[in-house]
Amino acid sequence: MTNFLSREFPMTEKNFQSIAKIAYEVTGIVLGNHKKDLVYSRISRRIRSLELTNFNDYINLIQDQNNQEFTSFVNSITTNLTSFFRESHHFDFLKSTAFPELKKKGKSPLIWSAGCSTGEEPYSIAMTLDQFYPGGDFGGAKILATDLDSNVLNTGRRGVYEGSKIETLDKKLKRIYFRFNNDDVAVTENLKENIQFNRLNLLGPWPMKKKFDIIFCRNVIIYFNKETQKELFNRYSKMLNQHGYLIIGHSENIHGFQDQFESIGRTIYRKK
Ligand SMILES: C[S@@+](CC[C@H](N)C(=O)[O-])C[C@H]1O[C@@H](n2cnc3c(N)ncnc32)[C@H](O)[C@@H]1O
Repeated sequence: MTNFLSREFPMTEKNFQSIAKIAYEVTGIVLGNHKKDLVYSRISRRIRSLELTNFNDYINLIQDQNNQEFTSFVNSITTNLTSFFRESHHFDFLKSTAFPELKKKGKSPLIWSAGCSTGEEPYSIAMTLDQFYPGGDFGGAKILATDLDSNVLNTGRRGVYEGSKIETLDKKLKRIYFRFNNDDVAVTENLKENIQFNRLNLLGPWPMKKKFDIIFCRNVIIYFNKETQKELFNRYSKMLNQHGYLIIGHSENIHGFQDQFESIGRTIYRKK
């Protein structure tokens, strides 16, 4: 077992529990004992960068949510792993089913990428829209991309990625939607224009006025407990138009919500 007391900055059990409590109350993220290493390494980095000497002083700072360190604390505890066209069957579904249905109804899709991380998910949605509605106007569709972490949102807004991030993408997609600059790639302005990146804590109020046709919330609820998940599914159901779609991650499920959603397979749910 790792001894966190003999490290550069000793972390007591009480220190870890205090950090986990603040994280849970503010973000819903559950930091169980198996996350101790992760917490240690991420918070040590913050302690070092603030030139503090111990966990107690750091915890004192983050007791106050108005302290300017609080945003960095929240950013440091999120896990932001993502990629372009991750779980690609979801994007195939948009093209084969969701977009044609909306087109038939004469409706422009309104899509929310909740927990969008660095933007690869909303940009993949935007590319899929552009493939379905050629002509550059995305059929009037709009994408809202939100996350709690302000750093990842800035990356999303910039739309600049390491070239390696698109290595496995289809050649045609690379050519149409990316501009190459040394080792980096930038998404085209046209893609950017159709995505609104906003900071939003899923646990807080949702100021959006319109209902969505499709909500992506993939690989986000996995960090929450059942109670938080249940609350979120209720709220997503209210934010979806009738027969709208909720799309979640491969290791997630919405057990217990069969009265509100019908599963149509492969982690795609249709609001009844
Ligand atoms: C693993 S990423 C998933 C990214 C993308 N949806 C995907 O599947 O590739 C999880 C994201 O959820 C965000 N997140 C965690 N808790 C959140 C909360 N309470 N409100 C909003 N976003 C949150 C994190 O900041 C992180 O960027």
